[in-house]
Amino acid sequence: MADDFVIDVTRIRDEARKKMADGPVTDTYGLDTAKVIAVLNDVVATEVVCWLRYTRHAISATGIDRAQVAAEFTEHAAEEMQHALRAAGRISQLGGEPDFDPATLAGRAHTDYTTPAGRDLKAMLEHNLLAERIVISTYQEIARWLGDHDPTTRRLIEWILEQEEEHADDLTDLLAE
Ligand SMILES: [Fe+2]
Ligand SMILES: [Fe+2]
Repeated sequence: MADDFVIDVTRIRDEARKKMADGPVTDTYGLDTAKVIAVLNDVVATEVVCWLRYTRHAISATGIDRAQVAAEFTEHAAEEMQHALRAAGRISQLGGEPDFDPATLAGRAHTDYTTPAGRDLKAMLEHNLLAERIVISTYQEIARWLGDHDPTTRRLIEWILEQEEEHADDLTDLLAE
């Protein structure tokens, strides 16, 4: 009920003044920032691994009869890199350090860097579709966990999730052809 909604502006003004060095992270932040940063760093690792896989497959799929698939892989790769950068930017806003350390990327990623032998287009499409289906599930869980506690990070994850669902749909269409 709107009648029950009262904001204690005096208290919020006092709290806002206390930890100015925390920048956008205020007293009303509903989660442990260290935990959110750790989860986002796993998202960064996942997106970099997806960028690597798509880029590798785009190069392998290049050829006259494969131009459509190669173009799709290239487009997806560019979007995965954007996802990594956006997640890294949010980590920085929350006062954390984005982790692009190649030594630990594969271990932190939700998906695997897999490349089928040779130039098997169908296998490449399947490897990427499996990866997309994995991130669709893990990102849904992250969005639910964030809930109302950190709406900005949740909306970022939801935006990424929407694109992953488009990727999975694109790959499904190509596999059906
Ligand atoms: Fe992505
Ligand atoms: Fe994707």
